[in-house]
Amino acid sequence: KYVPQIEEEVRAASELGIKASYLDKVPLPFSVKAAMCFEDQAQFHPLKYLKALAPIIVDSGSHIFEKTQAVNIEEDKSCSVVTRDGKKVHASQVIIASHYPFFDGGGLYFARIWADKSYVVAITMKDKFPEGMFITAEDPARSLRSQNSENGELILVGGEHHKTGQSPNTNSHYKNLIDFAQQNFPVINIPYRWSTQDCMTMDGIPYVGNLTSRSQNLYVATGFGKWGMTNSMVSATILTDLITKGDSPWAPVYNPTRFSLAATGNLIVQNANVAIKYISGKLTPALNNVQIAVGEGKVINVDGQKVGAYKDENEKLHVVDTTCPHVGCELAWNEAETSWDCPCHGSRFTYEGNLIEGPALNGLNHPDEGPNKVDPNVYE
Ligand code: FES
Repeated sequence: KYVPQIEEEVRAASELGIKASYLDKVPLPFSVKAAMCFEDQAQFHPLKYLKALAPIIVDSGSHIFEKTQAVNIEEDKSCSVVTRDGKKVHASQVIIASHYPFFDGGGLYFARIWADKSYVVAITMKDKFPEGMFITAEDPARSLRSQNSENGELILVGGEHHKTGQSPNTNSHYKNLIDFAQQNFPVINIPYRWSTQDCMTMDGIPYVGNLTSRSQNLYVATGFGKWGMTNSMVSATILTDLITKGDSPWAPVYNPTRFSLAATGNLIVQNANVAIKYISGKLTPALNNVQIAVGEGKVINVDGQKVGAYKDENEKLHVVDTTCPHVGCELAWNEAETSWDCPCHGSRFTYEGNLIEGPALNGLNHPDEGPNKVDPNVYE
């Protein structure tokens, strides 16, 4: 059923002047009915790219501040970025490029972005991987590409996705990818696995431009929809033009304050999902009198208070308040990465309660500390 869609996509690409061709064979070890081929694509290693970019930024008179968390922005004729320790970095223009915007500025980004997680396993195999990068047209998506490493060729098998904090079993996603790899390739080893999440917008196009219609000097680039290596380049082009020339031919398409009727349905669905998660998280009772095994995390009831508990390999119990400091949704345990993840806007925290990524700006409270402390060890 995807064949006509692929044909249509090839037609649309050629009408736009994009070089694309229709294929009924691809060099993969399983049958493929139809494919669309884009030639001459670039494949690059994002960290090597950034490593080369960083000294160019510094050498051209700019600055990179490491370990400096920005927590607020003051905008007037120029801008000040306020850091965690209260210092200010002044700039005539500021671009918020912090993945999920850490500063909303009245743009209601938290109602217009959701966080979606996906997974990768890196395998080694007996055969050489065919040249090219591949992605399936259908769901569940599978993407394939190779990467040379010191230990030989790695094949990155990606796919599986769900809203952050909304999978009952995060390990199952790695298992599905491993099953797919083993069914289709002569796998020798699976040395790496990881997951990531990205910001998704209501109409699938990133938000790039002025943060709000009132912001003169404040810009945002977010909602890259898992195409960050491409969309970051697009954003850089648009924002450079907006700041240096005052306009960009692409600005209306990416304008963060655009309105589209088509996106309204998704807006309602996504925000209804947030509301349901908020309410169901509050109503779901915590577990009473449970055993927590090593490596396990659970939401338990201690003296009438809901707390998240995780037992590490040294049998130490780590206890956190599972209320998200962003706007108060209840966090879900992610067993594959031993983290507490928020089902509403995707903030993530270590089992010790430290912030991994926002939009929350702070870590979790610790109910086993302070004057009203609870004692979760009764469950050990
Ligand atoms: Fe918004 Fe948790 S990230 S409530």
